[in-house]
Amino acid sequence: EDWDLTLDGTTQDGKDLQLAASNLKHSDIPVAFPTETVYGLGADATRSAAVKGIYKAKQRPSDNPLIVHIASLKQLRRLISVPNSSADIDPIPQIYHPLIRRFWPGPITIILPVPEDSKLAPEVTAGLRTFGARMPRDLLALALIKTADVPVAAPSANASTKPSPTAAEHVRYDLDGRIEWIVDGGPCDVGVESTVVDGLNSPPAVLRPGGIGIDLIRTVPGWEDTVVGYHDVSMKGDAAPRAPGMKYRHYSPKAPVMLVEATGGKQPSSSDLARRLGSSGSVGLVRTKRWKRMGDGAAKGEVAGEVASLESTPKGAGTSASPLEAMLQETSRHKKQLHAEEVIIGHGGKPFTVWDMCIGPDTASVARGLFSALRELDRKDVDAIIVEGIDDEEGDIAAAVMNRLRKAAEVKLEQL
Ligand code: TXA
Ligand code: MG
Repeated sequence: EDWDLTLDGTTQDGKDLQLAASNLKHSDIPVAFPTETVYGLGADATRSAAVKGIYKAKQRPSDNPLIVHIASLKQLRRLISVPNSSADIDPIPQIYHPLIRRFWPGPITIILPVPEDSKLAPEVTAGLRTFGARMPRDLLALALIKTADVPVAAPSANASTKPSPTAAEHVRYDLDGRIEWIVDGGPCDVGVESTVVDGLNSPPAVLRPGGIGIDLIRTVPGWEDTVVGYHDVSMKGDAAPRAPGMKYRHYSPKAPVMLVEATGGKQPSSSDLARRLGSSGSVGLVRTKRWKRMGDGAAKGEVAGEVASLESTPKGAGTSASPLEAMLQETSRHKKQLHAEEVIIGHGGKPFTVWDMCIGPDTASVARGLFSALRELDRKDVDAIIVEGIDDEEGDIAAAVMNRLRKAAEVKLEQL
């Protein structure tokens, strides 16, 4: 029924995890850890000083509430149960039961009422009377939370406004010198944040699209009429958007992002790009379909966006791996990293560089590769990043991807 995990703390890796967990439990400097969506920056959700450490490290406005991560339903019930209430009343509202059974552990966050005399530090909820709870499915995340044995408040582990981190090196790049621990689980599987849902109001609402698509949510009993709450509210400029984090500048690399909406349907050509951006400089191009390379025959290599595999080294072959070793191997398997390919285009006598990346062709790959691609192109110091959008209607997490891209984009190109 309930998710549980047994750990063998005798391996070297296990010791490291225990040290990280001990920091999480006792220190006021947050610990970064992998989840299946993005890396989180975690602190003990019951200690104000620890939670303040998150806002400090991220330089994040403190009116933006944090998600509380738990490793078991027992842990969640312990957190929200009201003293002296009847033992047979489940503190988790009924509406969430089928959703939890279906998607936890996994990329969905549920909004719960903050109980009276809550153990949660007030900094977690930023003054709201509700809070978000999530049970991640990444085994290292679960192991860390379980070992620390505290509910873990964690936003994404990027510097505020930057694209969310989907690999440990992204966290290091943003927060080096500000934190002491990063638990490295390799690149994240999903690549966009969890879906935030509110079942406390009727009809239930998706406040932030994410790793679990609305179509899938609507197949759950009691969730058939789920609406996209965030769009309704914030599009009208409501002063109190229901997912407060959505009002901030987000997911922005250094270079301006130009988004080509999928309906544009046309591949940017080199002369289109040059016309838009001036005749010199460099541009990053993030493609999401199997388009042919865009160069004028000056391309190196055959296929753009080469995919290199980061193979994990099997540990202790022949010997029986401890549960922890087994999970470490599991989390680093089948992980892929994307690379940009340089294409030089002659334009009006001046060379024009395009860093060409393909993160497609399917929605899951686009979601997994998007933030990483934006960061990779930032490191190339491009003057602009052009991203080919995908069709929202593709369902699943396409809506989540386009939500992030529209926030990151300063310029929207319907047609080039
Ligand atoms: O996948 C994820 O959710 C990642 C990983 C680390 O778990 N976390 C994450 O946290 O994305 P953060 O802080 O970057 O985003 C939390 C989102 C924000 O949009 C925030 O406004 C919303 O959840 N949120 C948190 N508490 C809320 C509440 N009580 N009511 C409405 N929205 C809430
Ligand atoms: Mg975030």
